[in-house]
Amino acid sequence: MKQRVFVTRKLPDEGLRMITKAFDTLVWPSDVPPSTQEIIQNAEDCEGLVTLLSDPIGRDVIEMLPKLKVISQYAVGYDNIDVPFASNRKVVVTNTPGVLTETTADLAWALIMAATRRIVEADEYVRNGNWNVAWGPELLLGSDIFDATLGIIGMGRIGSAVAKRAAGFKMNILYHTRSENEYTKEIELQYNGTRADLHTLLQKSDIISLHIPLSSETYHLLGEREFKLMKQGAVIVNTSRGAVIDEEALFKALESGHLGAAGLDVFNQEPIQKNNPLMKLQNVILTPHIGSASVKTRTTMAIMCAQNLIAALNGEKPPNLVNPEVFD
Ligand code: DGY
Repeated sequence: MKQRVFVTRKLPDEGLRMITKAFDTLVWPSDVPPSTQEIIQNAEDCEGLVTLLSDPIGRDVIEMLPKLKVISQYAVGYDNIDVPFASNRKVVVTNTPGVLTETTADLAWALIMAATRRIVEADEYVRNGNWNVAWGPELLLGSDIFDATLGIIGMGRIGSAVAKRAAGFKMNILYHTRSENEYTKEIELQYNGTRADLHTLLQKSDIISLHIPLSSETYHLLGEREFKLMKQGAVIVNTSRGAVIDEEALFKALESGHLGAAGLDVFNQEPIQKNNPLMKLQNVILTPHIGSASVKTRTTMAIMCAQNLIAALNGEKPPNLVNPEVFD
């Protein structure tokens, strides 16, 4: 008898086909995520669970799924999953690292450029019929990227991909990271990067881009105190996780004009609430968590997700294992 798998959302076909071929598969039919109760009901008899970052898989869920052997996350981040508890229950957790690095770095750059040069505002200005004078010396002035200082918080795969793209803009790069890793030397030697403590990075950067996972250490890493340290007119971009920023403090810093602009792909609450005050600000660009959203990347993520699931349910070590302790 085939093992059973619950997939919490329809994934790109290539990956989903691999899963349905190998397992007795139930796919959640709606774009609206299943509730916790619905996940439990549908995955009750399942050995495998395929999840998205918007599915909270806490102890309360794992405890109710006695047959569960693997949680295959369709994302690189897995802060929605209680990994220590999964490990405790010998449930394998996997993710999809690497494949979305360049796509997410591209989006960070799209937001950097759009926020510094006020592209969305300019587009609205034209569309709304406000372009009535041929050329204005002070129309929609932004800030420069060329020769500016880019502060990168988190120098892992995505942070380093963002740093490499800065070379064409002759930028100075400051980066903040907990420890040296395979990327830090390359960024220092070949891409004009300098490691800095967070305080210095905040004070000296013209543009700041965040590339850190969400954890108890990074929750609200940037708040009122940190925004005050930043340069007048600085631009901030977040494509990592919303909760690494205190959104209320960010709103105040942007509304007061202390910060020049923000480009945000991630939020404390997703989808963003209709009355979120950030929606009122002209100097904020908002995108709906689309960092990895290219056809090629999302397809490759689905294939990786399937490969991880298949390996784990065949009793093998999956290629992208989050909790190796399960195999100890
Ligand atoms: C991730 O993978 O963690 C991104 O946020 C979505 O692709």
